[in-house]
Amino acid sequence: EVLIAATAEEAAKFAAEAVLDGLRSRTEGNTVLGVATGSTPLGLYGELAKAVAGGEVDFGDTLAFALDEYVGLEGTHEQSYRQTLVRELCGVIGIREENLFTPNGFGDSEEQIRAQSAAYDAAIAAAGVDVQILGIGANGHIGFNEPGSSLRSRTRIKRLSSKTREDNARFFDGLDAVPTHSVTQGLGTILEARRVVMVATGSHKAAAVATALEGPLSSACPGSVLQLHPDAVVVLDEAAAAGL
Ligand code: GLP
Repeated sequence: EVLIAATAEEAAKFAAEAVLDGLRSRTEGNTVLGVATGSTPLGLYGELAKAVAGGEVDFGDTLAFALDEYVGLEGTHEQSYRQTLVRELCGVIGIREENLFTPNGFGDSEEQIRAQSAAYDAAIAAAGVDVQILGIGANGHIGFNEPGSSLRSRTRIKRLSSKTREDNARFFDGLDAVPTHSVTQGLGTILEARRVVMVATGSHKAAAVATALEGPLSSACPGSVLQLHPDAVVVLDEAAAAGL
């Protein structure tokens, strides 16, 4: 389902409705939300916070699993995705920090990080994600599944493309400080969420959105994997929808 909103603010409202609706389908146990970093979901988190304030929903028992994390940053590092989500998600909608799970890309060896990645993937499968929130990179990546990612991939270490490192350099002291690798949920892992809600806003996302939604299913555009999902909601503003 593709929803085109007039503005980014309206897109955030549509996306929040799609998320809340997806969470309602949970009949037993804690609700499980898959969460994303990036500037795009911030409006959506703001709308969810309004729903919390209005008594419509309570995330106090919700488990949250992050899409990705940088390799080499401790979970206490300010620019780690763990700390980013503590600030931008937990603090905003009331998910408890102990209920926020993030991949661990910090370790003494590649082998250790690989083992941590496999354990994270298994924890996601055991919990079962009700709704996975996604953004999309300008090169079509989702999570940190860069172009060339296997459509059936699981949580693993991925090298970041130079485009992604340049895009994210604004959060670090220059390009050299941006990690070169990440741990990311795989495309196969993401597809197992019961519902996925992708949000994209702005003209810089228009080409990636058009390729993901209307191009061929291809690892060259990891976002195209949403074509395989039975309950994918894509929410765009007019600028991001311009290439459709
Ligand atoms: C990062 C994240 C992605 C996110 C993307 C787009 O690379 N790993 O999950 O979708 O950035 O970010 P933004 O929403 O700021 O454009």
